[in-house]
Amino acid sequence: MDHQQMALIHIFSWSAAIILFVIAYVMIKQNKQEKPIKILQMTLRLFYVLVIATGADLFFRFYFGVQSEYFAESIIKLIAGVWVIAAMEMTLAKAKKGKKEFAGWLQLAFALVIALALGFGRLPFGFLP
Ligand code: HEM
Repeated sequence: MDHQQMALIHIFSWSAAIILFVIAYVMIKQNKQEKPIKILQMTLRLFYVLVIATGADLFFRFYFGVQSEYFAESIIKLIAGVWVIAAMEMTLAKAKKGKKEFAGWLQLAFALVIALALGFGRLPFGFLP
């Protein structure tokens, strides 16, 4: 599999994760049944694995053990990506318990902006820039 295909699966995976996250969140807020929400969350976690696996693949291909002027940014991108996932988990957990979600949303927005800006805006492999 070439790196463009891997980047495409990476993009597909985090897009799917974001969509599933929003659906799960809305269902939690609407007090839907426990079971469908559980199933949705399990599916969401499956996509986390895909996001991390494809992200790790891209990282090992292009940055690990390679002299690159983008090495530092690739590490920040990696951390931001994992952070997005952590923030999604945290936000859903708080919503489920009826606790304050603000910190979760704030982290999600912050980490997502960094991941998108570095992924599409800075780092040279994949599709953009
Ligand atoms: C929901 C979380 C994530 C989002 C929103 C995200 C977003 C992106 C975007 C927009 C790109 C650029 C794709 C392209 O230009 O074609 C990208 C590439 C990449 N991502 Fe992620 N990512 C996430 C999670 C991760 C994780 C967890 C890792 C590491 C384990 C990771 C590592 C990478 C690497 C190494 C690249 C290639 C960078 C390059 O273009 O040179 N990402 N990601």
